[in-house]
Amino acid sequence: MSSLPIDELIELKQLALNALEQAQTLDALTEVEREYLGKKGSIRSQMRRLGKLDPSQRPIFGKTVNEVAQEVEKILEASRSQLKEAERAEALKAPHFDPTLPGMKAQSGALHPLTLIDWRLDEIFRSMGFYVLDYPEVDSEYYNFEGLNIPADHPARDMQDTFWLTNGKLLRTHTSAGQVRTMQTFKPPFKAIFPGRVFRYESTDASHDHTFHQVEGIYIAKEVSVAHLISSMKTLLSEVFGREVKVRLRPGYFPFVEPGFELDISCLVCGGSGCSVCKQSGWVELLPCGLIHPNVLRAGGLDPDEWQGWAFGLGMSRLVMMRYQIEDIRHLLGGDIRFWSQFTGTGLE
Ligand code: PHE
Repeated sequence: MSSLPIDELIELKQLALNALEQAQTLDALTEVEREYLGKKGSIRSQMRRLGKLDPSQRPIFGKTVNEVAQEVEKILEASRSQLKEAERAEALKAPHFDPTLPGMKAQSGALHPLTLIDWRLDEIFRSMGFYVLDYPEVDSEYYNFEGLNIPADHPARDMQDTFWLTNGKLLRTHTSAGQVRTMQTFKPPFKAIFPGRVFRYESTDASHDHTFHQVEGIYIAKEVSVAHLISSMKTLLSEVFGREVKVRLRPGYFPFVEPGFELDISCLVCGGSGCSVCKQSGWVELLPCGLIHPNVLRAGGLDPDEWQGWAFGLGMSRLVMMRYQIEDIRHLLGGDIRFWSQFTGTGLE
């Protein structure tokens, strides 16, 4: 019995829908799709019959083929998204925890030892009544040199090779660049520290880097004494190290102090027997200091007959090295996370 072509299409559609109903997996659906809707699939290939049909039947037949294909496709897509959803729900039910996988370590950050020491110093000096100040790293020749009694032709300029900027400014070679600024800003008497990065244009070795950290300290009052300076420094050092540290005082020359001193501490990396940090001497230069030169007081707008001051320039990088027994200053700013993540939990945070 030969049925009408349209009826055959309806039958074909029914077959496709039955097949879709049977398909219970995504793979099975794809198979049905290929079989019925693919280029050579049984629905699309109906188009090839067009030529053999009576011309009056052609438009309606063509239209029906397309409608059947669209309908089957719509149902197929609906089942496909249902199956996908079900597959995902099934996967989520499965146990997530695989005890055979290696554990994932939580990554936690760490404070740099310079930060730890910086915070500690801030705390110690605040408790002694000091302001904690911050000054620019790019500064003028005036504040870094001239205001500190170091004119352009002064041989002391050779002690601090400098990075110059094209605009005539420089990278400060020491935190002393803040001294005159403090005197111009605060009404004496006052005490202040200003920690920060400083820069020297010089070659590096285990105890020198082109960038390092200092803390400047300054005390201005009607009357100050070297004894007060030394006792403040001793308090500071024993607070930082948590014990008495052996120190020695030598005369030291800096144009902005008179008299000037070098306060050395016994090398804590080698215990005084000699190593690369102390250049085999057993002592480390840590704390140059002295009484502020009258010319510097004048530069700060203070009358040297009325006001006196002391100042120190603590080598914070050196202090960190002593505190943590680090044998090469270049580790500090070398950027190796393995280096500085070792220091949390050392009692300073
Ligand atoms: N600014 C000096 C330096 O970096 C150190 C210093 C500071 C000396 C304060 C005396 C007083 O070498």
